[in-house]
Amino acid sequence: MLKKINVKDIKQGMYLQEICGSWMQHPFWKKSFALTDPKDVKTLQECGIHEVWIDTGKGLDIEAIVHAESEEESSRKVADNLQTANSDVKPVPRISLQEEVAQARKIHGKAAQAVTSMFQEARMGKALQLVEIVTLVDEINLSISRNPEAFLSLSRLKNKDNYTYLHSVAVCALMIALGKQMNLDPSLMKDLGMAGLLHDVGKMMVPDDILNKPERLSDEEFTVVKSHPLQGWEMLKLSEGAGAMALDVCLHHHERVDGTGYPHRLSGDSLSLFARMGAVCDVYDAITSNRCYKAGWEPAEAIRKMAEWQEGQFDKTVFHAFVKTIGIYPSGTLVKLKSDRLAVVIQQSEKSLLTPVVKVFFSTKNNAPVQTETIDLAHAKDSILSAEDPLKWGFDLRKLTGI
Ligand SMILES: [Fe+2]
Ligand SMILES: [Fe+2]
Repeated sequence: MLKKINVKDIKQGMYLQEICGSWMQHPFWKKSFALTDPKDVKTLQECGIHEVWIDTGKGLDIEAIVHAESEEESSRKVADNLQTANSDVKPVPRISLQEEVAQARKIHGKAAQAVTSMFQEARMGKALQLVEIVTLVDEINLSISRNPEAFLSLSRLKNKDNYTYLHSVAVCALMIALGKQMNLDPSLMKDLGMAGLLHDVGKMMVPDDILNKPERLSDEEFTVVKSHPLQGWEMLKLSEGAGAMALDVCLHHHERVDGTGYPHRLSGDSLSLFARMGAVCDVYDAITSNRCYKAGWEPAEAIRKMAEWQEGQFDKTVFHAFVKTIGIYPSGTLVKLKSDRLAVVIQQSEKSLLTPVVKVFFSTKNNAPVQTETIDLAHAKDSILSAEDPLKWGFDLRKLTGI
């Protein structure tokens, strides 16, 4: 049986099913493992994680007096949290996803190239050349104004070699999209984009064998990884054209609103709005990306996980605006409908995040494809039962969505 417990109640002999927090926060790359080493218990209790799931069928249970949350209770809380975000749904994009994809792909390619060469030069100790990057951020901003989902969908495609560069491009786009969702002044978009693009520049100072290590990091290695915000900030201080927002987000994107983040353990209002936005965008992109040690989650799954961890980790208002930006069932998500059919989400609804436009293509009852059909769930009897893992079903959704 799965139980969610406070990390202070864990003990040797338990089986850890899942850590409730992103894997940038702790040195354990493995999702599930038996807690046999007392050192692991100590590390978990000191890394800023608040809760974990344990499997009482595979290891020790908690004491009867300790509070644990069941899967049902946790799911209900997540649903309530997401439901809070489901109001004042985002403005309608100016053009369709399919119309923007080709343009977005070109801009994404240019941005990927420019960021790669800029970061590689930084690794060799050269000053950051930001002029070309500023023009690209403008282009990304325009693409997102036309249709945010096109650029954001492309931003998910990464491999282990280009992860840090493409993650920077993705966080740039997410910061801009979130800023628009929060109705921030349009004059801030460029700074938001630059802040996203440069937030992890300090990783260029972390050796590749640590950044890409597929096993658990030692405490010393984890300390080196955690030095990247400060190292990046030092680099940006010396770079002409990196504004105050980029410096702030670079230094504080791993802080948490409850004060358990790093490097300065800042909390609540002592963290700027932009740093709080950076924290949400950063975690979302990291957990939806494939890494050498872990396959990324589907966007719908990532949003659910972040809703589960939100308390303490993310600013509530920023997180709810982020859910509106991405959607509860983002475009490209495979969903199961009440009518025993599978569909892929192709467009968000103007009315509710829970009723997007979907393309139906498969019957789960007959285990066979059906004639494709586009349904606007805001005006249909059918509704979404769950988000599904496309890998489990073996479908190539890119063919269906054209992204
Ligand atoms: Fe980072
Ligand atoms: Fe990051």
